[in-house]
Amino acid sequence: MPKRIDSLYLHFPFCSHLCNYCDFYKKVPQNKTLDYQKYHDYLESSFLVHKNLIEKYGYSWSPLKTFYIGGGTPSLWGKEGKIFLQNFLNEKNIQLDPECEFTLEVNPGAWDEEVLSQWRSLGVNRFSLGVQSLQKEMITYLDRIHSIEDVYTTLEYFRDNKLNFSVDFMLGLPFSKEYKRDVIKELQIALSYNPNHFSVYILTVKDNYTHFNNLPDEEWVEHEFLLVADFLKANGFEHYEVSNFSRPKKQSEHNLNYWRSHSVAALGPSATGFLFEDRLRYKWKPNQPEIELEFLTEEEFNLEKIYMAIRSQVGLNMDDFPKSLEGVVINWKEKLLVTEENKIIKLTSKGYLLLDSLMNDLFLLKLV
Ligand SMILES: C[S@@+](CC[C@H](N)C(=O)[O-])C[C@H]1O[C@@H](n2cnc3c(N)ncnc32)[C@H](O)[C@@H]1O
Ligand code: SF4
Repeated sequence: MPKRIDSLYLHFPFCSHLCNYCDFYKKVPQNKTLDYQKYHDYLESSFLVHKNLIEKYGYSWSPLKTFYIGGGTPSLWGKEGKIFLQNFLNEKNIQLDPECEFTLEVNPGAWDEEVLSQWRSLGVNRFSLGVQSLQKEMITYLDRIHSIEDVYTTLEYFRDNKLNFSVDFMLGLPFSKEYKRDVIKELQIALSYNPNHFSVYILTVKDNYTHFNNLPDEEWVEHEFLLVADFLKANGFEHYEVSNFSRPKKQSEHNLNYWRSHSVAALGPSATGFLFEDRLRYKWKPNQPEIELEFLTEEEFNLEKIYMAIRSQVGLNMDDFPKSLEGVVINWKEKLLVTEENKIIKLTSKGYLLLDSLMNDLFLLKLV
């Protein structure tokens, strides 16, 4: 049976400004034309490296069922990016399945109508908007380059054009307590723009973060997380992964592929791909089109599969585990951390919050 790849992540590494909390690989272009040309060259060369890799292990491309362009700020790539990518896909004979879920990340203030319509003509049918907060002060503390007005203009455009979009929010933001951040009020406003999906991330930062001493305590953040989960669920969203909520049938198929341990190819500086049948993870080096390979042992792979399944509503099948798991699951159920249906255990919102300690319970049982 040929091994197929039908899911691709592409990393676009440029932003017009660097936000103070962000740890993704990205840079501000010094000379846009030159820097984008270098990026295009990087993609061309890395495609050859990638071709050799996948051919060596017997994989070939199938029409893509999911395609995700993440950043950086992919909406900055513009019309030029769309034209480059269209030619790139044609030359490499990578096709999009007619049902392909094709997502582009968009920053408020870093898009225009012409650019979005160009991307839509290439097949983009899902957008992920980096909103983070609707409280003006929070946006300032995060050092976002756009204004709150840009955020509203963006949301209005997406609502008025009935586009399929997701909104990124962050919790645990600096000065949340001092400003009495009311995240539910923000979500109520966001909902009025009719997104199909929310990604809600708890801010993670390094010890030397500018606002390290202004972050709210753990109790505040946990409370915020559970409030958000309850609110979104009461409004028809499913909490289908630790950080993700969707309206029915609007989950991110691309992200589900990671949690189902499906093969996902990756291109672009610092992108990571995974070839399932060979337990092979590969990571691109940012400065040259080279990859680092990591073959997972069977044990590491099984652990990863469990971690991925439990962190989403894919869930764990009790039949795949020894009887000793039952005692632990009873305990989890009593604490309202999991539900069980047809022998599949799924985490509740409270369970997602305690994911790491639940994984520890499995370690102690030597199940993983
Ligand atoms: C790949 S980033 C880029 C998205 C886009 N450039 C933007 O900033 O709107 C995707 C999301 O990751 C989240 N994120 C970035 N840095 C984070 C951090 N340090 N902790 C938690 N979430 C973070 C933000 O919600 C962001 O929208
Ligand atoms: S715009 Fe997005 S990717 Fe760029 S620095 Fe800010 S959070 Fe990071």
